[in-house]
Amino acid sequence: MSTRLPHADAVPVAGMAALPLRLRLRLWRNRLVASPGFRRLIARLPLLRAIGNRKANDLFRLTGGFIFSQVLLAGVRLGLYEALAGAPATTALLATRLGVPEARLRVLLRANGSLGLLVEAAPDLWLLDDAGVILAADRGLAAMVLHHAMLYRDLTEPDRLLRDGAAQTELRHYWAYVREMGQQGPDAAAVEGYSLLMRESQTMMADCILASHDFSQYQTLLDVGGGDGAFLAAAAAAHPRLSLCLFDLPAVAERAARHLTGLGLAERTHIHGGDFTRDRLPAAADCVTLVRVLCDHDDSRVAAILANLHRSLRPGTRLVVAEAMDGPAEGARLSAAYFGLYFLAMGSGRCRSAREIADLLSAAGFHSIRTVATANPLIATLVTAKR
Ligand SMILES: C[S@@+](CC[C@H](N)C(=O)[O-])C[C@H]1O[C@@H](n2cnc3c(N)ncnc32)[C@H](O)[C@@H]1O
Repeated sequence: MSTRLPHADAVPVAGMAALPLRLRLRLWRNRLVASPGFRRLIARLPLLRAIGNRKANDLFRLTGGFIFSQVLLAGVRLGLYEALAGAPATTALLATRLGVPEARLRVLLRANGSLGLLVEAAPDLWLLDDAGVILAADRGLAAMVLHHAMLYRDLTEPDRLLRDGAAQTELRHYWAYVREMGQQGPDAAAVEGYSLLMRESQTMMADCILASHDFSQYQTLLDVGGGDGAFLAAAAAAHPRLSLCLFDLPAVAERAARHLTGLGLAERTHIHGGDFTRDRLPAAADCVTLVRVLCDHDDSRVAAILANLHRSLRPGTRLVVAEAMDGPAEGARLSAAYFGLYFLAMGSGRCRSAREIADLLSAAGFHSIRTVATANPLIATLVTAKR
């Protein structure tokens, strides 16, 4: 339930009485938490102390977040998680393998142990904890961690980014399509970095989408902004009778043709290069996916993409939008906080709620709009609609 405040700016003390009861209670609680005397009292009461310590630990996770992410970056860059995949190793052995002096490596190993990435099974004997297993197994996740180095450089002065926007950030350069494009779009070199990252990080995304929507009901799937074709390849493996179609910028379409041919899917696939905001899209498909596409763009460009889809597709075609969306689940809220800053640094796009996406679809003329929850709202939520 939304509440209208009496003033958009800070509420003058005289206006406090006009605030709804729940806001006045919250302010009273905030004053208590801010009081050192109250916090000393909490520390003496066992049950409340546990709650207070949990909140202090959460705040410390935020305060130390940059350091913890650098622990992760060091582990990925040094090949620590790969070195431990399948077998434990001693600090001495790891020091030799990774080329780091033993005493310094122990600092990193212990930090990894505290952060749930490694387990110290016996003194100086290490193996992977759950999060470390996932990092060792998922190349896409490791690739995301590596590309964060760029994002963090863009975020070194977040207050300035908020004030001035992202005219010259590294991310804006990396995601070539968010800058002004010529008629032919970016060239092969400009799309290589992000296309590889998208290909490598597609596995979890594709699993999540394919488990949440029944693609066996379709004959032809068109993936718009389909990158190198990693999602289509996963859909093809899950549904061997599905015909495949991909649309992306010309330089990316060429990569997709090579990639899908390399996977033996050339016979099942049609590939088209063009600009999805203006060029006609192939209309043969009975299902069209937009995977991690709309979030990259501001509302005006999303409206252009959807209007072009609506113009190009046949009535009855199903549209499936799949990306991280804002929502009440913890994963969705984490994604929204992460992507909020990410897109700010990129200078384009935003993490929308399913409702906001539904409104954009409806404004473009799509109907029968539904939100489909997935097993992992951190990764994706789906919104489906019909042309
Ligand atoms: C974030 S990537 C997602 C790629 C893929 N769907 C995935 O999830 O791995 C966005 C894709 O949209 C493509 N794209 C961006 N602007 C485009 C445009 N104007 N016309 C066609 N494709 C575009 C990019 O080349 C890129 O492949």
